[in-house]
Amino acid sequence: MRKRKFGNSDLETSVIGYGGWPMGRGQYGPFDDDESIKSARTSYENGITLFDTAAIYGWGYGEKLMGKAIKDFRKNIVLVTKGAREWDRNNPDRNTATIADSDPIKLTKSIDESLKRLQTDYIDLFLIHWPDKTRPFSVPMEVLEKAKNDGKVRYSGVSNFSVSMMEESLQSSDIVTNQIGYHIFDRRPEKEVMPYIKKKNMGVMAYGSLAHGLLTGKWNTSKTFTNDDWRQNTTNFGLHSWSKENLKSNLEVAKKIQNLGKEFNKSITQLAISWVLANETVSVALAGSTKPENSIENLGGDWDMPDDLKNEIDKLVLNVGSGVGKSGMEIAT
Ligand SMILES: NC(=O)c1ccc[n+]([C@@H]2O[C@H](COP(=O)([O-])OP(=O)(O)OC[C@H]3O[C@@H](n4cnc5c(N)ncnc54)[C@H](OP(=O)(O)O)[C@@H]3O)[C@@H](O)[C@H]2O)c1
Repeated sequence: MRKRKFGNSDLETSVIGYGGWPMGRGQYGPFDDDESIKSARTSYENGITLFDTAAIYGWGYGEKLMGKAIKDFRKNIVLVTKGAREWDRNNPDRNTATIADSDPIKLTKSIDESLKRLQTDYIDLFLIHWPDKTRPFSVPMEVLEKAKNDGKVRYSGVSNFSVSMMEESLQSSDIVTNQIGYHIFDRRPEKEVMPYIKKKNMGVMAYGSLAHGLLTGKWNTSKTFTNDDWRQNTTNFGLHSWSKENLKSNLEVAKKIQNLGKEFNKSITQLAISWVLANETVSVALAGSTKPENSIENLGGDWDMPDDLKNEIDKLVLNVGSGVGKSGMEIAT
């Protein structure tokens, strides 16, 4: 497994990172806890050294499970979690039940709670999950600086931040990354966000490398989601990749991408991950899985995709697909 640094920082990780959202019970459909733990451990045994989670995943459940999974090798990995997204579990409206909230007292408390759930006394990389536009960005950054001084956090970063938000944050903290949605069907960050990250010598953490399941070759046009799965919403971070109008055409594109992989003996998930890694600003491509066999398959994404193949995939998505890959859209915040 190849490694990359986060920009010019000395934080280094495997190019593929294990994504912990699917093991956040109640948000990503049903799964088996033991299988999920096995999936994370198998990933580590095969060279994955970055594990990503968030306080909000499963309203704390995801961190607890991640803590169990990584316990035996915690010191050997880059453990990433996120905060400043408060939740009200009793609120049935998903849109208002979680809100970006960087209140410094709540954020400070939530770092301690994450440490407890993750069974560790330090977080390698702590990210502000979503921008809280009601406060200056110096507020959460100063909390992270204090957590660094206290030895609770090693590196700070943000997630889902636009250029101006990163600019403001950088005045108060040496953030090393912005974790953003980036995959074959979502090229919005290429226009402004990624060039800025590169210019500032930071690294991109790309999430949704498999378009949250659309790029796995396992979906068909009758794909449905259970009530405890966020994907039952037809929008995914401002896109409509599996809405009624787009699912069929996007699956057709996915099928064509899958066929392109045959010549190289690569599955569609492996192509999807290596496509993300073909962008040199990306430090790590995150892929989430609660199944060991899927995590093993995804390791094959650590591959240098030939330029011609990447061009063919790009043409398919930009010209034949539903248009969701159009660049230049505002990043969803
Ligand atoms: N900062 C943010 O706002 C943000 C937002 C989204 C995600 N993230 C992070 O990024 C990570 C990756 O994104 P994601 O998990 O949403 O999406 P993803 O990695 O694109 O896709 C995950 C989905 O793909 C399935 N899958 C994975 N490998 C597969 C394989 N080989 N064959 C078939 N299905 C496969 C998983 O199902 P199984 O469990 O059944 O394998 C899961 O349903 C997250 O886990 C999270 O850590 C961050």
